[in-house]
Amino acid sequence: MQLHNFNSGPSILPKEVLDGAAAAIHDFNGTGLSILEIGHRTTHFVAVVEEAKQIVKRLMDLGDDYEVLFLQGGATMQFMQVPMNLLDENGLAAICDNGVWGHKAVKEAQLFGPVQVVSDTTAAKHTYINKAIELPSNTSYLHITTNNTVEGTQWHQYPQVDLPLVGDMSSDIFCRPTPFHQFDLIYAGAQKNMGAAGVTMVVVKKSILGKTTRKIPAILDYQKHIEAGSLLNTPPVFAIYVSLLTLRWIEKEGGLVEMEKRNTAKANLLYDTIDASENFYCPIAKEDRSIMNAVFFLKDQNREADFLALCKEKGMIGVKGYRTVGGIRVSMYNAMPHSSVVAFCALIKSFA
Ligand SMILES: Cc1ncc(COP(=O)(O)O)c(C=O)c1O
Repeated sequence: MQLHNFNSGPSILPKEVLDGAAAAIHDFNGTGLSILEIGHRTTHFVAVVEEAKQIVKRLMDLGDDYEVLFLQGGATMQFMQVPMNLLDENGLAAICDNGVWGHKAVKEAQLFGPVQVVSDTTAAKHTYINKAIELPSNTSYLHITTNNTVEGTQWHQYPQVDLPLVGDMSSDIFCRPTPFHQFDLIYAGAQKNMGAAGVTMVVVKKSILGKTTRKIPAILDYQKHIEAGSLLNTPPVFAIYVSLLTLRWIEKEGGLVEMEKRNTAKANLLYDTIDASENFYCPIAKEDRSIMNAVFFLKDQNREADFLALCKEKGMIGVKGYRTVGGIRVSMYNAMPHSSVVAFCALIKSFA
């Protein structure tokens, strides 16, 4: 039976990325050694990091005023590493709480100083994004989650601010052309659109660093990682290599313009099918719907278990909604073929 992998992350990767990763486990670049066995300071691996950084800069159209880092600790670590590095003594962190991940960013930032929640959609169960943001004058930075993986909302236009803008892009990085230059710090766990779990990409504008007198442990200090060229300690070698293969794949397929074309076609098909259905509904405001993660429900919730059983029977993997939200969630990352969404839509239509 053909499987359709709608997992929210770790999630589907292009077949040629999996093939390349498998080959490198046996023999990396003709070295006779596995990628799992090579030293991280060898010329072979330094070249991997450099090429990955270059592709990221090309895809983001960013210059030398930004640095690309490959770190560990997941996007979750960024919830505390960002305030530790950016929240200065007299400032506050302005954070949008539009879902589970934004909420965690708030909680962690509170460990380092005052936090102002400038957009909170809890009362509406996060079914839209409140874009009417007012920033206090002593704001050190504004943090948004560009795509709310759990709730199925996505910022389609970013706030225009004249202070550092931080974006958690874990679940929509490289899904479409993006004005990355509007951001001063971008982070993303790799395990959705960028590769395997174990590495988190951080892209930071160097000029925003060094504003706090707080003592920062070296391993958490962006500046120290920049000085060490992402090789401050042993990095997640294999995960970085899988990211390189995925980045190469994105460029080869036509870059972000092509990713957007594919992703909007898939998302439009799915949302149109749900909206036209008698049995399903999507509560998310149309203008804020995510092209990566669609969250929707059965009108008769008693039938949810039947639908999930049918999905399982038909090889549709990972479609159960997040534990606190329920319902159905279909993740359609870059590597998800159009044919899988077509197959899923056929299931929706047939579920009378
Ligand atoms: C938007 C967003 N931020 C943060 C996280 C947490 O990522 P990690 O598990 O890599 O810490 C996730 C995970 O799904 C996410 O989707």
